[in-house]
Amino acid sequence: MKYILTLLLMATALVANARTETLKSPDGNLELTFSLSEDGTPGYALSYSDREVIKPSPLGYTFRGDASAKDPKTYMRVSYDTVDMGSGFVFVDAVKSEFDETWEPVWGEESHIRNHYNELAVTLLKKDFKGKAGKDVVMVLRFRLYDDGLGFRYEFPAQDNLKYFIVMDELTQFRMTGDHTAWWIAGDYDTQEYNYAQTRLSEIRETLPKMIFNNASQHVVGPTAVQTSLQMKTDDGLYVNIHEAALVNYPTMTLILNEEDLSFKADLTPDAVGCRGRLCAPCTSPWRTVMVVDDARKVLASRIILNLNEPCALEDVSWIRPVKFMGVWWEMITGWRSWAHGSRLGHGADTENVKKYIDFAAEHGFDALLVEGWNEGWRDWFGNQKDEVFDFVTPFPDFDLPGLNEYAHSKGIKLMMHHETSSSVVNYERCMDDAFALMKKYGYDAVKTGYVGDIIPYGEHHYGQFMINHYNRVLKKAAEYEIMVNGHEAVRPTGLCRTYPNLVGNESAMGMEFRSRILPHHVTILPFTRLQGGPMDFTPGIFEMDMSRNNPNSTQQIHSTLCKQLALYVTQASPIQMAGDMPKNYERHPEAFRFIKDVALDWEKSVYLAAEPGDYIITARKAKGSGEWFVGGVTDENAREMTVSFDFLEPGRKYMARIYTDAKDADGVNNTPETGSESCAKYEIKEMKVTSKTKLKVKMAPSGGFAISIK
Ligand code: NOJ
Ligand code: CA
Repeated sequence: MKYILTLLLMATALVANARTETLKSPDGNLELTFSLSEDGTPGYALSYSDREVIKPSPLGYTFRGDASAKDPKTYMRVSYDTVDMGSGFVFVDAVKSEFDETWEPVWGEESHIRNHYNELAVTLLKKDFKGKAGKDVVMVLRFRLYDDGLGFRYEFPAQDNLKYFIVMDELTQFRMTGDHTAWWIAGDYDTQEYNYAQTRLSEIRETLPKMIFNNASQHVVGPTAVQTSLQMKTDDGLYVNIHEAALVNYPTMTLILNEEDLSFKADLTPDAVGCRGRLCAPCTSPWRTVMVVDDARKVLASRIILNLNEPCALEDVSWIRPVKFMGVWWEMITGWRSWAHGSRLGHGADTENVKKYIDFAAEHGFDALLVEGWNEGWRDWFGNQKDEVFDFVTPFPDFDLPGLNEYAHSKGIKLMMHHETSSSVVNYERCMDDAFALMKKYGYDAVKTGYVGDIIPYGEHHYGQFMINHYNRVLKKAAEYEIMVNGHEAVRPTGLCRTYPNLVGNESAMGMEFRSRILPHHVTILPFTRLQGGPMDFTPGIFEMDMSRNNPNSTQQIHSTLCKQLALYVTQASPIQMAGDMPKNYERHPEAFRFIKDVALDWEKSVYLAAEPGDYIITARKAKGSGEWFVGGVTDENAREMTVSFDFLEPGRKYMARIYTDAKDADGVNNTPETGSESCAKYEIKEMKVTSKTKLKVKMAPSGGFAISIK
């Protein structure tokens, strides 16, 4: 009898701990359910109009316990016990609130952004932390539900029983409801420069090895690991996108698919000794985001990633400006010249050559010229891994640093600085102040940074906490000197440009430098994935697709029409945009070049006219200030005829449109020297009057596109 009573008491105690809380989005379509199971395991589920989107999925952590064993010979701490932070929680309280504000980004896809969500903050208690009686630890789970998605994060407030702690694993899962179609790149701790695959979730394992090719630094996470932002589509037409927002002082998340139940589990980038986050309360994780919408265009219009970031941290932002630039760059990418002085190829950043670029860029109204390979170190670095290669202040003898800056300024443009860190990160941090002071002295206001090669200190990864802190430190330091940053090979952005708007761009995906490797559907996917976190320095505007014409030793052929290159300035919004090609290739197409010169960089409003990941995107944007509109459309390997309805224009007004379309026989796919490498550069330009009632049929060639400017 006594036994049964005890059992009964235990059962009521357990049931008493079980808990469910629900939260609806402002429009009522999305519903979040938080649950705490009887054994104190926290979890969540998400539904859209009564359709399950995320099945009940666990939350929590594994922490490192105290050092438990030492290697008898080295006395190094070799093994650690772990602390379960995924169960055994007790419910404390749940607080709901609503938030609604409209804020103005310094630059971006629109001038006003509404941040409207309902919030649920659940406070849980882990009793007897590390088995110590009476030592309880508080963890808060904060959920924010928008009309177009969910954000949630872990919070550890300041408290007596938890200060410094080490994460060994984050247990967050995203359990899918079916074998969705997904657009993904392979999970990798060191590179994002892959083509996207479009497959069912169940096909990731067989497809992943085919998507891998060599890169300077690489660490494939596993046979079913994919990166965020991950775009999916359910068979009943919902677009589900998983990413993270506000990645600060924490490792980047990769997703590992378990094919048994089609669930993804968070995988945090490890540090050099295998730990996955060294934290100190008070602290929070980044937001985990699940966007859910019923129309692909709404993915492009979503602002949840930006909204989940903190407001602007910079008091004065008057020095942050959109920049259209050219570069002493493509000559090196195509192997025609070298970054290094003294190379047998010839040095790209030679004063005479740079002057020619300054003349051209200034004549055509550009704001800046990027010059790569200007500084000592390139020969020492090529092919080697060395700690102290660059000092970022010593120019090559043939690069007249003061003279060229003066020359550029006299022509009304600036030079853009290049800091290839060679991933020697501690060295860069040591040099940063001197490097930025030098930039200030000569009037540079923007730097393109780069992280090619394995991270030094060795063992660290591009997306580990060490590097996340580095990238953010660079941003803050640059802001002190009023310098804008465009980071290449840095972590995929997570909306931090809201807080630090001097983060004007990142590469962090496969850009035009990959030339023939880029699949025709790439740019129909990037805005759904990589661009969710912030703008990309994609380096578009390549007019010569046949690389042998730039460099007879190259056989590379870019699979894109010229008009598709124009469209990218609109479909892939960025406050910094490069015209990637060389002056001589623009000189051959002055009328088409005009679009690049005309197109705006900062927008009052964006309208997503048509979109389907992997197939096509058509976007219209209204320029901030001038009121001009620009439209861009891109397609994958398939030719398409689509109708553009100009109903985004103000009714009753007449506009003049200049329309750039692929010619009838243009072809961006079959454009090898054998099949006619000129076929991708065939286009037609016409001007016509348009009103809000105009409907225009446009044809896009295979891997083609179109662009329209409207005054
Ligand atoms: C890779 C960058 O993406 C590219 O733009 C740059 O030219 C090279 N690294 C050299 O730094
Ligand atoms: Ca790169």
